[in-house]
Amino acid sequence: MRTQVGIVGAGPAGLTLARLLEVAGIESVVIENRDRDYVERRIRAGVLEQGTVELLREAGVAERLDREGIVHHGIHLQFDGERHHVPLSELADGRSITIYGQTEVVKALIAARLASGLPLLFEVDGVSVHDLDTERPRIRFAHEGAQLELECDAIAGCDGFHGVCRPSIPSGVLRSFEREYPFGWLGILAQVAPSIDELVYAHHESGFALLSLRSPELSRYYVQCRPDEDIGEWSDERIWEELQLRTGLAGWTLDEGPILEKGVTGMRSFVAEPMRYGRLYLAGDAAHIVPPTGAKGLNLAVSDVRILAEALVAWYSTGSTTGLDGYSDACLRRIWRAEHFSWWMTSMLHKLGDDPFDAQLQLSQLRYVTSSYAAARSLAENYVGLTTL
Ligand code: APR
Ligand code: PHB
Repeated sequence: MRTQVGIVGAGPAGLTLARLLEVAGIESVVIENRDRDYVERRIRAGVLEQGTVELLREAGVAERLDREGIVHHGIHLQFDGERHHVPLSELADGRSITIYGQTEVVKALIAARLASGLPLLFEVDGVSVHDLDTERPRIRFAHEGAQLELECDAIAGCDGFHGVCRPSIPSGVLRSFEREYPFGWLGILAQVAPSIDELVYAHHESGFALLSLRSPELSRYYVQCRPDEDIGEWSDERIWEELQLRTGLAGWTLDEGPILEKGVTGMRSFVAEPMRYGRLYLAGDAAHIVPPTGAKGLNLAVSDVRILAEALVAWYSTGSTTGLDGYSDACLRRIWRAEHFSWWMTSMLHKLGDDPFDAQLQLSQLRYVTSSYAAARSLAENYVGLTTL
């Protein structure tokens, strides 16, 4: 088998790249080791930057997103028993965010790919990548009992943090940067109308909590927990109690409802540089991870593949490798900004330990971003997505 671009992984990065290449008339084959149902059910964060929405719209996969996505112009920061509104759009030149489940983005991309009759192979096994530093990199894998080899012009490693592409780069090439946090998020999806119009990020002495949503009938809530928290110890009653405690305010009620799903996610920051080795280009979680506090994960993945698609289009149309040569640096500027922002939001909002000095610094920072125009504008432009990087 032969294709122009071999794409490993059918998450947001791989699927969006495949769509952008299709629109530009470049062939690709996408291979994914899980089944379609698994990929379409994985719940992920739900905040899309305006630039992400615009790209999905240009790629022709935003019909439902435009109908059902909920545009938000602000968020709330809660601390010290008070809730403060941060008017993102006012602060960030009219830009907004859209609340829409990333799972739904993935479903639209898969449907579009299949409707175009283009190759997207689920449940492949034993994926390995070869000859990366030659002009004919190859992907080997098994599919439906057959052992296959796909010869490509370039390979996109979009196989997430635990994928095979990044570890296939010879040792000594990549430099990685990492921070693990001593806490995680316990997230729930609840069948109840959200109790508030916009997201609430709450700092509380018992730990961080976040109120988010998926639709007018579905709420998505999180509480800070241990990274290795046993979900079995969290009955529905205990989860609601903790949410009530951490987000409660006089004169406001957090409505409860049946919990449809619950799970614990660890939190880490990670970057591997450069995002290229020979003809292998890493994109999305394969190259970098952010903690979920700024909701940047999918937005970064989309921004990587936008840059990669443009570089591949230029290469095929003019033979110029300038875009491909600059791919990693172009992505990393935005990635490191998001790494800093996510780390900063995480550090400002979570209970870090029992040191009262830490708590005072956090409260001072929270008061500053909710009272200084300059500090609020800085938070806002990062949250909605910087356009100047
Ligand atoms: N072969 C083929 N596919 C693989 C392999 C492999 N060896 N290893 C992993 N995969 C698949 C995974 O099953 C997954 O579907 O690669 C895909 C990677 O997808 P994500 O982990 O979602 O990563 P990415 O596409 O970079 O998206 C990043 O989107 O949903 C969010 O949390 C995610 O915010 C992050 C962003
Ligand atoms: C979510 O809705 O899942 C969500 C929202 C904001 C975040 C993280 C997750 O910062």
